[in-house]
Parts: sequence; C-alpha cells; structure tokens
Amino acid sequence: MTASGNLRVNGERLWRSLMRMAMIGATEKGGNCRLALSDPDREARDLFVSWAREAGCTITIDKMGSIFARRAGSDDTLAPVMMGSHLDTQPTGGRFDGVLGVLSALEVIRTLNDLDYRSERPLEIAMWTNEEGSRFAPAMLASGVFAGEFSLEFGHSRADRDGRSVGAELERIGYLGDEPVGGRDIHAFFEVHIEQGPILEEEEKTIGIVTDAQGVRWYEVTLQGVESHAGPTPMDRRRDALVGAARIVERVNEIGLAHAPLACATVGMMEVHPNSRNVIPGRVFLTIDLRHPDDGVLDAMEAEFRARSDEIAAAAGLDLECEKIFAYAPVAFDPGCIEAVREAAAGLGLGAREIVSGAGHDACYISRVAPSAMIFTPCIGGISHNEAEDIKPEWAAAGADVLLRAVIAKAGA
Ligand code: GLV
Ligand code: MN
Ligand code: MN
Repeated sequence: MTASGNLRVNGERLWRSLMRMAMIGATEKGGNCRLALSDPDREARDLFVSWAREAGCTITIDKMGSIFARRAGSDDTLAPVMMGSHLDTQPTGGRFDGVLGVLSALEVIRTLNDLDYRSERPLEIAMWTNEEGSRFAPAMLASGVFAGEFSLEFGHSRADRDGRSVGAELERIGYLGDEPVGGRDIHAFFEVHIEQGPILEEEEKTIGIVTDAQGVRWYEVTLQGVESHAGPTPMDRRRDALVGAARIVERVNEIGLAHAPLACATVGMMEVHPNSRNVIPGRVFLTIDLRHPDDGVLDAMEAEFRARSDEIAAAAGLDLECEKIFAYAPVAFDPGCIEAVREAAAGLGLGAREIVSGAGHDACYISRVAPSAMIFTPCIGGISHNEAEDIKPEWAAAGADVLLRAVIAKAGA
C-alpha cells in the first residue's frame, strides 16, 4: 500500500468517539470542563485507555501521568512515530481543543487495524498531562518535562490555587505512572489540532500546514495595598490594589495594540482579596500572557509591561511583585515533517495553506527532542477556549486523513 493510495480514516467513527468523549465533563452550554487531574480528566483517560487497548495497543504511563498507547511495528526495535495531544480542557472549554489530536491518532490506528496494515516503525499515541496550564501553570507541563525543559520535581510540585500539587493529584486519580519521562528516541511527532483562530475557515481551507508557533511569556503579579473600610476611608488616603490592577489591565491591552497586528497581550485571571463589597481591596493577584512570533518584539513588550506596571504601582502606593513563570521562544517545526503534511494534504486534494500557530501546543516542546509538525483544521468562527467551540465532522476526518498519510510516510511500510 502507498500513502498516495485511496487511504482514508473512518470519519463517522472518529466523530462518534469525539462526541462520546465530549460527554465527560460536559457543561450546560455544550462545552467541556475537564481540568487537568480532576475526576473528569480521570474518566476521560480511562475511556481513552480502554479504547486504545481495544485497538490492540500496549499502554504505558510515565511519571508525569502522560499516557502512551503503542502499536508494534514490523521492526519494533526502531524509534516510534508518535502522534497525539491532550484531553484536559479549560474551565469553560470546548469539545475539540486537544481531544481532536488524541482521537485522530486513535482513529489512525483503528484504520490501520481495519486494513491489517503493519508499519515498519512502531506507532505511539501520546496523551500529554496538563497541556492547558489552567489549573496548574505552566501550560504544556508534561511535554515540557518530556523534552527536558522542566525537571520532574518541578512538574510534580506545581500546585493549583488551592495548593494541591500535580504529584498528589496524579496519585489520587491513579495516573502516577512508573515510566521515566522522556529520554528516548522518537522518529517523528505529529499533532492534529483545531486552528483556534479564523484564518482557515475564512479562506475556505481545510488544512493548515503549521510551520511555526509564536513565542509565549507568562507573568504572575501581586499588588499589595491596604485593606480598609469602604465608607470612612477618604479617597486620598487609599492604597487600593484593585485600582492598580485595573490600570495594569489597561496598559497590557495597549501594549498588545501597540505591536499590532501580530502581538497578543492578555490579563486572563484576577483574584481580589478579600473580595468584599465594603472593603477596599488590599491585595490583587493577576496573570499576564504576552505572545509574538518574534522574540525581540517579546523582549520589548516585556520591558514596556514591567516599566508601566512599576510606575502604576508607585503612583498608587502599592507594593508590586512580578514573576515570569513561563516562557518559550517562537518554534520552527521540522521541514521534513512539514513536507510530509503538505504532501498528505495535496495527495488528498484538500485545500491547504501554511500557518503560524497562535496557541501553545505540546508539539512546541516535543519539537526540541524529535522532528515535529502540526496539522490544523478549521473551527467555526475561530472560536476556541469557549464552550461554543465547534467544527464540522468533515474537517475532523480531513485532519485525521492527513495525519494517517503523514504518519505512514514517516513510519515506512
Ligand atoms: C495553550 O492552550 C495556550 O496557548 O495557552
Ligand atoms: Mn490544545
Ligand atoms: Mn487549549
């Protein structure tokens, strides 16, 4: 069989699996809440593992809780071709972010089983722990440990806002595996993902050939003022941490706009203490997310953000602590893997274009230890990290078809 043959996944089976997985942690507005290492995450993992076992795969779990489902190759001593993504979601997440990449990979293996096709290299599906970084910062934590960006101790010690650690939660849900994290050869890695932006749909293209991903930096800021009574405290005597935070939000937005059209700058999270209507806020915690495809521009954005927030804090009589907790430079994916995606899309006659990822993905870290590329599919209205996130079944099938051919091209007959 050749990769240019009439090779297709079973799109209906893929869609049924996506819809079944979406029942776990389903929200009232039609999305999903499966925060990393929560009970719904455990349930999603259990379902994935049961499906992968049914498909004849061998399961291993590493010390970061990432799951690897392996289908033997005809030469099982060769390094595997790996494909996958994540099953965790944002608190108000959609049904496809991450899930599409994991279940497309499963569909590739199910299709190869149907065809009784054995690749020369083994194939592995990877389900990476805590991609979203919503409950446990930073994002792409387990793929980062796998790629040597973070130590295992760092990974296990990350804690949510209630103080529960990754290590303890992995143990609680029964996914603290015993495999070492990383340190093994991977021949190639492919991740299918929804674009999470509007470009493919607007240009009526079904496949995004992802060449690069933009750089990301995350900061945590704590502003400390003084709590006091909202009535008797005169306006000119206040050290109101929320007023300082509001000004920082405004400046961060301006920094994003000042570096248009490619920059993004977001305050996504804020905690106000004591959060009582008649107490002047004494302390505010907020998070900042800066993105740009050029590291030099990110340096400039960071310098502006630090200078402006220091000025704001000084003017409002606040103490400011700012910590950069996560950063990765823009990523260039592997030319050979990109070519495999391009050829697969062309062989299927699918409309495709090159695209730069705005979001972070596990492939960004895996690209440091294995030749990697990504396959984007459109999403309706470019909406993602939103319960309304939606795609068409034919887009999902097209992404999995491209994955199938790219993987076979790399895994050999
Ligand atoms: C991951 O979803 C990110 O881009 O923050
Ligand atoms: Mn994702
Ligand atoms: Mn996401």
